[in-house]
Amino acid sequence: MDMEDRNQQHGKLWLWLDERIGLKDLEYLAKKKEVPMHRHSVWYYFGGMTLFLFMVQVTTGILLLLYYRPSAGEAFESVQFLMTEVQFGWLVRSIHAWSANLMIFTMFIHLFSALLLKAYRRPRELTWLSGGALMGLSLGFGFTGYLLPWNELSYFATRVGTEIPGVMPVVGPFIRRLMRGGDDVTGATLTRFYGIHIAVLPAIVAMVLGLHLFLVQKHGMSRPLSAEKGPDAKRVMPFMPNFLLRDVVGWLCALAVLAALAAYFPAELGKKADPFQPAPIGIKPEWYFMAMFQTLKLLPSYILGIEGELLGVLAFGLVGLVLIVIPFLDRGAALGRKTRFPAAFAITLIAYMILLTYIGYTVSPTK
Ligand code: HEM
Repeated sequence: MDMEDRNQQHGKLWLWLDERIGLKDLEYLAKKKEVPMHRHSVWYYFGGMTLFLFMVQVTTGILLLLYYRPSAGEAFESVQFLMTEVQFGWLVRSIHAWSANLMIFTMFIHLFSALLLKAYRRPRELTWLSGGALMGLSLGFGFTGYLLPWNELSYFATRVGTEIPGVMPVVGPFIRRLMRGGDDVTGATLTRFYGIHIAVLPAIVAMVLGLHLFLVQKHGMSRPLSAEKGPDAKRVMPFMPNFLLRDVVGWLCALAVLAALAAYFPAELGKKADPFQPAPIGIKPEWYFMAMFQTLKLLPSYILGIEGELLGVLAFGLVGLVLIVIPFLDRGAALGRKTRFPAAFAITLIAYMILLTYIGYTVSPTK
């Protein structure tokens, strides 16, 4: 295209920016991007949905920062003030809490759909690994954020949660002290979790997410093995604007759901944490930690002479490891063969998580 044609298609600002940052390369990329169409295409929306909810978290998180105070003496009161006095403070906090939960939920869907459709196949191993890191980081966001309101539930759940890595031999006590900033959960833990929640995790997530999205852009969306032959093999939809507009419809629906959830079920605050009180009965973690929490509760104290909790923690580590390295275990899929164990692994894991979470919420609490 010569200069004259470009001048006719674009305004002056576009041309000014193009000369400086190369807009036409971006335009070319956007026009080239296509999304494969087949009967599993719906799963492609969940990465974008997770991204949207993450942006909601960043926006509402910054607004919360304007009032939140990270100390044991003031944290609870600052959140109470935000909920009762600040205009729309309750709404911002409730959206932050609900969007965190929805984001983790959509991320689970995104992860398991990528697993079941084998989107991790060569050359997307690093997309998968960076995704695994994002999962860990997001769970870290959930864990550290839970403590920040400094209420009874969050205080005692953090005490239990930080106790768990302590069962590991040699490194356990060190990790527990590192997480708590001392022997027990105190104001030092709060300051630490706050720093991790608002600075460390966002900085790391920004880098890893950048890599994840770059790789998605570089390789394009994968086509599942089942859609590589037959009538679906060549069907595509342009990303711009067709797929993106569909993404936006999903995001607007998510926003409506978030607003409704926040309005009908605003985030609760409960009572201020009192470290000198005994732990109330029925302390529970966030739902996404429930399956692990319940597993540890059900394990006997000793199994074959080894501490039950330790075996549990090691088993979680092993399952996490298998999940992360699956692109390298599933060599058959990389060669285009149908392998069965990833699906068996995914379905067993999903069923286990649902079952244990259900037990966690229905069995009456004893401690
Ligand atoms: C903050 C969390 C995450 C965000 C914002 C995110 C975002 C995205 C986006 C926007 C896409 C392209 C659209 C799509 O395929 O849905 C994508 C693709 C992908 N993601 Fe994620 N993701 C996240 C976490 C994860 C996790 C936990 C995994 C798995 C361990 C993962 C693995 C993948 C893979 C393999 C692809 C390529 C899919 C394909 O080419 O078919 N992602 N991600």
